[in-house]
Amino acid sequence: MLRNISLGTAVSEKVVLPNDTNHYSTIFGGTLLAWMDSTAFIAARKYAGNDVVTVSVDNVVFRSPLNVGDIVKISSHITFIGNTSIEVCVDVTSEKRKIIENAYFTFVNVDKDGKSIPVVQPSFKTKEEKEIYDMRKKQKECKKQAERLCLISS
Ligand SMILES: CC(C)(COP(=O)(O)OP(=O)(O)OC[C@H]1O[C@@H](n2cnc3c(N)ncnc32)[C@H](O)[C@@H]1OP(=O)(O)O)[C@@H](O)C(=O)NCCC(=O)NCCS
Repeated sequence: MLRNISLGTAVSEKVVLPNDTNHYSTIFGGTLLAWMDSTAFIAARKYAGNDVVTVSVDNVVFRSPLNVGDIVKISSHITFIGNTSIEVCVDVTSEKRKIIENAYFTFVNVDKDGKSIPVVQPSFKTKEEKEIYDMRKKQKECKKQAERLCLISS
């Protein structure tokens, strides 16, 4: 049975507090990544219906700093489903600026012993969901090939 890919979405909002900042008084990147990871986890967990663990984070770009008091919105949606893996795109926006950061988090569907298990395959409601899925599939294949070449040359 197929599951609709749009089931895998999650949104959270946060306010930047003094403890979240670095010595420049802007947000510490690791804190923002943790917020993104937990929002993306919710999207992947909702789709998978059981436990998932983070295996990889790609294309992390910090575009603008965030300051104490800024309110950020973290939006996530699934872009690709592999055999055992689920890729989630995460965007961070603030009231003042459009995109602050975006990245792709990959989770693996696991059993109670932490072993990877197949994830249910997706169906699509819109043409755009399928186009994004096909594009991310190609990107994943390129990444795998690049990693293989990197291993060979090292
Ligand atoms: C996740 C884990 C169970 C996978 O183990 P595994 O099944 O032996 O690993 P595999 O190499 O077979 O890969 C499993 C899936 O992850 C994907 N994957 C592995 N490395 C990846 C990478 N660098 N980038 C993207 N996807 C990756 C594989 O493509 C595969 O997906 P597919 O089945 O959809 O094709 C294991 O690596 C693990 O336990 N990692 C630690 C997770 C963790 O502690 N995370 C932090 C806290 S949540």
